[in-house]
Amino acid sequence: MSAARVAVVVDSRYGSTLALAEAGAAGAAGEGAQVRLRRVALGEPEYSVETGRDSYVRARARLETMPRAAIDDLRWADGIVFGSPTRYGLMSTPLRAFIDEVAPLWREGALIGKVGAAFTSSGGMHSGHEMTLINTLLPFLQHGMIILGVPHSVPELVRTKKGGSPYGAGVVSGFDGHDGATAEELAIATALGARVARVAAQVEPEPAPVRLS
Ligand SMILES: Cc1cc2nc3c(=O)[nH]c(=O)nc-3n(C[C@H](O)[C@H](O)[C@H](O)COP(=O)(O)O)c2cc1C
Repeated sequence: MSAARVAVVVDSRYGSTLALAEAGAAGAAGEGAQVRLRRVALGEPEYSVETGRDSYVRARARLETMPRAAIDDLRWADGIVFGSPTRYGLMSTPLRAFIDEVAPLWREGALIGKVGAAFTSSGGMHSGHEMTLINTLLPFLQHGMIILGVPHSVPELVRTKKGGSPYGAGVVSGFDGHDGATAEELAIATALGARVARVAAQVEPEPAPVRLS
């Protein structure tokens, strides 16, 4: 069994989704995987995001040190993990734009049989956290991938009082976005990254082109 290649692709404004990405990447690396931690495009700040906050400035500075995700990162990877802040129960626009950008991979069937997982951060506990995780998994299924969540054998999934779910890792950051990630939330993200690495190392991708007629 050879070591897996795992791409973690993240969007974040105040850093809580970024903290999950770093925990997931560390979890995958802990299983011996090669890991690429990538960000999506850094555009104009969205409406209603406070760019003066320390957490925004710190997250932005960290994201600027990371390479932007590219189509070849997904070709390279055996396991792909997408994360973004919750936006109206959906992923963010920059992550969605990246998913549109990699559409040629669908035609090639390049991701068929690879492993996918999701993470998010939401302000509220019951305002789209799990919906966003589920929504983020859907494009993986469209690409013919195998989706993974978090099993309840991960002890922190049973103990968490905020984020994290069988559908993926998560932070509930509070409606003012200040709460940050708990130890349980980070542990769930680490476990998810590790699981993606372990499963991806056992699965043989089966790329096959899509014939449209
Ligand atoms: C435009 C916009 C839409 C949002 N939509 C939701 C939402 O539907 N549900 C929710 O709980 N939080 C929502 N939030 C709050 C963010 O999801 C929350 O601040 C998140 O934890 C930020 O993650 P980050 O620290 O990685 O930037 C929204 C924030 C913005 C700016």
